[in-house]
Amino acid sequence: MKKILFTFIITVTLGLAVFLTIKSLSEPCLAPGELPDLYIHEAEVADYDPASFKERRQRIMDQLVGTALVVSASAGEDFYYLSGFDEYQGLVVLLPEDPKPFQMFVTPRNPADAMWVGERHGTEGAMEKFKADTAYVMEDLKDILPQLFSRHDKIFLHSRDTRIRETLENWQRETGQSFVFHEADSLIHEQRVIKDDWEIGQLKQAVAVTGKAHSWIMKTMAPGQHEYEVQADIEYIFGKNGMTPGFASIVGSGPNATILHHIRNDRKINDGELLLVDIGAASRGRYTADITRTYPVNGQFTPEQRTIYDLVYKASETGMKKMKPGFKMLDCNHAANRVLVHGLYQLGLIPDTTVWWQKRFYIQHRVNHYIGLNVHDVGDYGFDPVQRDEHILTPEIRGRELKPGMVMTMEPGLYLQENRLDYLHELFGHLATKEELDEFARQVRPVYEKYAGIGVRIEDNVLITEDGNIILSEHLPKTSEEIEASMRR
Ligand code: GLY
Ligand code: MN
Ligand code: MN
Repeated sequence: MKKILFTFIITVTLGLAVFLTIKSLSEPCLAPGELPDLYIHEAEVADYDPASFKERRQRIMDQLVGTALVVSASAGEDFYYLSGFDEYQGLVVLLPEDPKPFQMFVTPRNPADAMWVGERHGTEGAMEKFKADTAYVMEDLKDILPQLFSRHDKIFLHSRDTRIRETLENWQRETGQSFVFHEADSLIHEQRVIKDDWEIGQLKQAVAVTGKAHSWIMKTMAPGQHEYEVQADIEYIFGKNGMTPGFASIVGSGPNATILHHIRNDRKINDGELLLVDIGAASRGRYTADITRTYPVNGQFTPEQRTIYDLVYKASETGMKKMKPGFKMLDCNHAANRVLVHGLYQLGLIPDTTVWWQKRFYIQHRVNHYIGLNVHDVGDYGFDPVQRDEHILTPEIRGRELKPGMVMTMEPGLYLQENRLDYLHELFGHLATKEELDEFARQVRPVYEKYAGIGVRIEDNVLITEDGNIILSEHLPKTSEEIEASMRR
């Protein structure tokens, strides 16, 4: 009896297993058009919010009393920032004292464009959708713009299109009207530094979709793939969410992980290597995330990779503590880089931490920048971001105060490029003698060779709040253990 029961159970179990296997093989995993939850982020914030745009124009106008502002579509993001208008021609005019303070000049609707590129917004759309108080066609610029400004002696102008300045200058000459132009960039850029709620919502959506892409490739990457295949998987997920890359995706395997902005993405990925993935989806409202994770391609860090990874991780965690009001822009950078320098000293890669060039050899960039409509968003930092040699290892240079509403990256990195010791003389010949440089190379080379070819960056997106910060990308695995656990299949 027992034997019959046993045979029956085995037969049923096997039968069921065979049935399920055949069923799963014969059916597609997903119905056409259906996508796994993993791919799709349900948008929680509208793609366009007229109230947010109105509010930001008002904030600008509050600073414009007695003056006016003209921003042409040639100003790119700044034009979009004030209008939300998504055509490549147009003009925003802000007149704080006018009963119609927001006026636009746009391309009229026309059948040729309607046929070739789709209907323009036209003056109708400028008023209805983009809430201009009044709108004119561009051809009327010559006649109307001067009239609008007859009551102003000071005009803020932001345009790369010289015709607008010429129109105003001609009119000035003809009528004897006297006014001076002021550049408007810094006025707008300063406001762009502090994000409003809708902008923060946009950034959160961009971060969420970028996170989906990271989560997906963590599961799918494999030795033998090319970097461009991983890039394709990433950008497929962006596209499925109606988003586009906010900047050229960086997918660097093996030695390419040591190239800060490796965008060729054409190398075959080998077993045992790291894959540095620095990507950002730009939301449908155009705000871009910027998130980097560095993965062991086969799911397991080597001891050397882990050592460097954990050091960069520690730098990130340490720097993050200084990303809150009360600290200044570069405080987090100095804190993070101190961790890196100390770790490199302990490994025997920096013999003397009091020697600037020995540190600079490893520290390539500061750890934070604003994100927003641009991945390296506009705005003042309180120091010159281009002059890296001046600020990245100078704790006295701290930059401006951190303020709630700033959104920026935290992105320490270490890049031990294979042949970098061969460039010492080119890099630091002006700062050290040949003997000093040779001695440095002699001392560090045996250790350097252990780590040569390893590049690690960890990059999160951080919103500064009243009493601290919110790490928008916090849901992504970050420690070496979390990464390995998430990659387990
Ligand atoms: N993706 C460029 C950067 O991290 O700044
Ligand atoms: Mn970045
Ligand atoms: Mn990045």
